[in-house]
Amino acid sequence: MPQFDTVIRNGTLATASDVFAADLGITGGRIAAIGAGLGSGEREIDATGRLVLPGGVDAHCHLDQPSGDGSLCADDFESGTRAAAFGGTTTVIPFAAQFRGQPLRDAVADYHRRADGKALIDYAFHLIISDPTPQLTGQDLPALIRDGYTSFKIYMTYDDMKLNDRQVLELLDVGRREGAMAMIHAENADFIGWLTDRLLAAGHTQPRYHAESRPMLVEREATHRAIAMAELADVPILIVHVSGREAIEQIHWAQGRGMRIYGETCPQYMVLTEHDLHAHGFEGAKCICSPPPRDEANQAAVWDALAGGIFHIVSSDHAPFRYQDPRGKMLHGPDTPFNWVPNGVPGIETRLPILFSEGVKKGRIGLQRFVELTSTNPAKMYGLHPRKGSLAIGADADIVIYDPDRRVTITNGMLHHNVDYTPYEGLEVTGWPETVLSRGDLVIDRGTCVAAAGRGSFLRCDPPELAKPRPAIA
Ligand code: URP
Ligand code: ZN
Ligand code: ZN
Repeated sequence: MPQFDTVIRNGTLATASDVFAADLGITGGRIAAIGAGLGSGEREIDATGRLVLPGGVDAHCHLDQPSGDGSLCADDFESGTRAAAFGGTTTVIPFAAQFRGQPLRDAVADYHRRADGKALIDYAFHLIISDPTPQLTGQDLPALIRDGYTSFKIYMTYDDMKLNDRQVLELLDVGRREGAMAMIHAENADFIGWLTDRLLAAGHTQPRYHAESRPMLVEREATHRAIAMAELADVPILIVHVSGREAIEQIHWAQGRGMRIYGETCPQYMVLTEHDLHAHGFEGAKCICSPPPRDEANQAAVWDALAGGIFHIVSSDHAPFRYQDPRGKMLHGPDTPFNWVPNGVPGIETRLPILFSEGVKKGRIGLQRFVELTSTNPAKMYGLHPRKGSLAIGADADIVIYDPDRRVTITNGMLHHNVDYTPYEGLEVTGWPETVLSRGDLVIDRGTCVAAAGRGSFLRCDPPELAKPRPAIA
């Protein structure tokens, strides 16, 4: 009689701290044993020449998220989580976004309806707060945090989402009391509005001007202000989708003062530049996201901060809008002015391959750091560790068997999202996920999806340890 449900043999296991040769046994959806020469499994997987990694945790992606401008998020929980799994991700944390005037619980209920029966892998929700009424800060948000929605995003820009500093402080205070992680989109809305009006008045409507409307100082100022608010409220925060040096310097400065300020970056800031927005005709719209991609010097600063420990997590910020689509990038036709183009790039499937190839294979970061940035730290950041994010006895058997040597030229045709382009078309990478297990179930079997929609479970998050304020030192 087999000792395990599944045994993965002869692989090289990598965690955030160690790389070692071992077999891994799975029973009842959990990791049951790690060791040499394990007993037999009902299913045996040979991982010779492969890496065995904890499944990726993509803690910033947008799936089936409704918007107020008529645009359509192209991926729902089925297509989005399938693409995620093909890319080696086994947990996603998208956003339940509140419209102004909407009770927060209604936003969460709506989002559960969207996810129910569709996800192929496990998922949790962040909240997006756009209307922090006294009812919300006093009752609704604390109750939801206690129910397992232990992180929320705050926007300092976008007219329909942005909060003023007083509102941000009120929310940070709730996060402090209840033990939730605040994620901050740090760009100065008024600076952007002023610059946008000037560009439009000069007839500059093409996609390339998106980057000119949001230069680095717009992000640097808001990052600094967010850090100051976190200091005032005495609570950790995470600055999301950090694009370059000046914002990194603010985070580094705060960390140097002993503050718990965390940073997230994304593959678009490692391999795209502002130049990609200059592409022929309207093509640059494919790379419109906020903050925008910067230049090579800023890419280098992002890599330094990844290697140097300033960043804590790498997410995709998958925001899927189709290109040739009146509900996508061409919301107002093929000449849509830059300020009306839906913001965001798709990348849920390419997150691990790009960081692995550009980071690990090129010697910019080590394998353990790769695991930490893509899996362990996001699980810790949002209260899912040790269930997710590690290869440990008792943890969910969410595992990626990764071929470190497979050479792939990324094309949209090979991807599984519901978007008609990838900003990474033609990018050559080395290394690709081969087989993916979620709670011991095969989801991707050597490049073929074998899981049914709806097998993914909703995860309630614990209050994250990392969201705790620094202890007072006597
Ligand atoms: O351009 C971006 N980043 N779109 C997605 C929404 C957000 O702010 O993360
Ligand atoms: Zn954002
Ligand atoms: Zn986002």
